[in-house]
Amino acid sequence: MKSIVCKNKLITFERYNIYTKAMQTKISEKFNTLFGCSGEFFASAGRINLIGEHTDYNGGFVFPGAIDKGIMAEIKLNGTGKVCAYSLDLDEYVEFGLNEEDAPSQSWSRYIFGVCREIIKRGGEISGFNTVFAGDVPLGSGMSSSAALESTFAFALNYLFNLGIDKFELARIGQSTEHNYCGVKCGIMDQFASVFGKKGQLMRLDCKTMEYKYYPFHPEGYRLVLLDSVVKHELASSAYNKRRESCERAAAAIREKHPEVEFLRDANREWLDEVKDSISEEDYMRAEYVIDEVARVLDVCDALERDDYETVGEKMYETHYGMSRLYEVSCEELDYLNNIARECGVTGSRVMGGGFGGCTINLVKDGLYDSFISRAKASFKERFGHEPKVYDVVISDGARKL
Ligand code: GLA
Repeated sequence: MKSIVCKNKLITFERYNIYTKAMQTKISEKFNTLFGCSGEFFASAGRINLIGEHTDYNGGFVFPGAIDKGIMAEIKLNGTGKVCAYSLDLDEYVEFGLNEEDAPSQSWSRYIFGVCREIIKRGGEISGFNTVFAGDVPLGSGMSSSAALESTFAFALNYLFNLGIDKFELARIGQSTEHNYCGVKCGIMDQFASVFGKKGQLMRLDCKTMEYKYYPFHPEGYRLVLLDSVVKHELASSAYNKRRESCERAAAAIREKHPEVEFLRDANREWLDEVKDSISEEDYMRAEYVIDEVARVLDVCDALERDDYETVGEKMYETHYGMSRLYEVSCEELDYLNNIARECGVTGSRVMGGGFGGCTINLVKDGLYDSFISRAKASFKERFGHEPKVYDVVISDGARKL
């Protein structure tokens, strides 16, 4: 525990913030009421992504970091074949067995069930447990509350049953949970960030080779802030899966001429143009965006080495344009927030995550922060009837035992 002296008062603080501490107390009280004992605490994080969107399932680069918002769970093995789980935020209790036919129907419990099943499929021997969990990642905001939930349980079960699963496999367990139990054919970025996240560090991950590098991120004179439109569009997962199919069709067409192309990441604009007439206009636009976005991540890495945040910001605007016009995963509210950022002279701004609602991520000069936030709140409210939510980004640790 650290302590500081502030206005003559000694303030002590632990590694985790006060909100999280309060959350731990609430979870612990409920756990004790439900199960009459106490268990062990685990947590994992949501994520931001500086740049590299929809590149992960195309074998490209991403640039995420874990954040100080996440999921926390208290867990104790119960010696039965049953999982007894309570979601504090939703005030819902569910029990399920560990066989395939025991799949529960509540969407949140399918994440926990999926993680258990994916561990079992990999040969992990697990049995029942009791758990109470809660979180502070806003749902549908594009900050990956589901990856936080998956990696909390993957990490915890690995620890509690002493399974010896490595961190990459823990991330893959979360990803397979999305694919096989939640209907989203996602890439690896969210689960990777949630498991590998480190305080103060972003990570560049090559989603083809799975090589990664930590980048300390302390942009002197700038701040990263998220503006949450608080809209979540229906059918986001089927639209997401369709984007992935478009990319796979485009890559397959290019592969006929260039067999080395496993993913769109291996292609370039010239090769894409060679197959322009043999793929749909829509698939062409999707692939155009992805090929450019993969290159943008590398440009941003170079710019960061030089502390050149103006270039980082420009690339963010380019990403927004591509996601809005070519990949078509933005929406009116997010385009509006992006425009306000540009009008206020914000260095960089773009829709973050899968899209179809959620947040913009903004790189703002310190001196501009207050005026940008108040203008964004006021004009967004005038146009859409509610203010966007504002989250300052704090890059934090990923999956852990508390
Ligand atoms: C979602 C998916 C990720 C990634 C992003 C877009 O968050 O879960 O795998 O594809 O969208 O970059």
